[in-house]
Amino acid sequence: MKILGIETSCDETAVAVVESTGDIRSPSFKLLAEALYSQVETHAKYGGVFPAMAKREHAKNLVPLLRKVLDSLTPSPVKEKGLGDEAVGNLKQILDREPGLFEMTKDLLETVEKPDIDLIAVTAGPGLEPALWVGINFARALSEAWNIPLIASNHMEGHIVSPLIDSEHRVEFPALALLISGGHTELVHIKDWTEYEVIGRTRDDAVGEAFDKVARLLSLPYPGGPEISKLAEEGRQRNVVPRFALPRPMIHTKDYDFSFSGIKTSVLYTLKKIDDITPEIKTEMALEFENAVTEVLVTKTRKALEEFGAKTLILGGGVVANTYIRQEFQKLIEQHSETKLLIPDIKLSTDNAVMIAAAGYLNFLKNKNSDIELRAQGNLSLGARK
Ligand code: KG4
Ligand code: ZN
Repeated sequence: MKILGIETSCDETAVAVVESTGDIRSPSFKLLAEALYSQVETHAKYGGVFPAMAKREHAKNLVPLLRKVLDSLTPSPVKEKGLGDEAVGNLKQILDREPGLFEMTKDLLETVEKPDIDLIAVTAGPGLEPALWVGINFARALSEAWNIPLIASNHMEGHIVSPLIDSEHRVEFPALALLISGGHTELVHIKDWTEYEVIGRTRDDAVGEAFDKVARLLSLPYPGGPEISKLAEEGRQRNVVPRFALPRPMIHTKDYDFSFSGIKTSVLYTLKKIDDITPEIKTEMALEFENAVTEVLVTKTRKALEEFGAKTLILGGGVVANTYIRQEFQKLIEQHSETKLLIPDIKLSTDNAVMIAAAGYLNFLKNKNSDIELRAQGNLSLGARK
């Protein structure tokens, strides 16, 4: 089955085509084509993602990205005649609120033949609702014009399935997933494909958000995760011992929830007492911060692995790019020989449309029609089904 995936939940506009095979016991995914535009530079000057701007950027970039994907699959033949009046009217109705996107989509549909695609999958949530709507309406327009079925995907399910893309790996159940990015921090118990229970989440900042906020306190550029991680790594190589001690919030609580805003506040107060924040102080702070966050993540995940007898541990989300966090999880798994660790390629651990197509396939296999409603759901949870 060839699936076109569309992702617009946050600041990445992405389109991909994935060939999906196998049944629900052993789904398998091959990436055929992908195009992605990251708005990171656009949002960098504001130090965070601006929903209205994200939405505008998605509307501007979806058609060029789709063209790129279709061109790389097969040279797209040019149509002889344009769309009929009825088709144009229909399209206009669906893209009523996005005049620019309507014009571009109309032009695309008039010049490109229907591609060899069996299913379209689009992110319904969680994410920024105005941004999600752009992707959903675009997907609806394509689905109607090309008469291809459309299915809604859960963005988090995408993160969970991403280690299987272009790999031979299988997930053995029960599994656990730790999803850590700028927008989410969740520990998920996976009983089987499409059967999820979120057992823990952050009560305040997401992990990536905490990295970004601490980076800002240290006057490092946005996104701050990679910057902190670079400083910390450099300090670790030199065996630097931080002169500060930050808290490990909720590390020993009975639940699986997290809290990271306290660490950030502690960084703020510590820095306030220092007149001259030298590069060495920044290095020590970055190192201690990374140690604190990692210790909490590993400790809570270890507890969950043991309680649920997990046979697979999946890591996902942009923060997985962090070398130290990956190393510490590898160490954890070495002590749990019955559990296998699956980490997606760094490229697939951040937001992308490949994982959205793959998640669409799982839902299609399980339900023939996704049981996720096709509307923007900012807080769509993994446990929620129709
Ligand atoms: O998944 P992602 O691309 O976007 C979403 O938030 O959904 O994740 C981006 C987040 C940012 O907060 C960024 O600072 C963080 O991931 N990040 C890192 C690293 N690389 C990216 N955090 C820590 N260490 C890194 N190496
Ligand atoms: Zn994400």
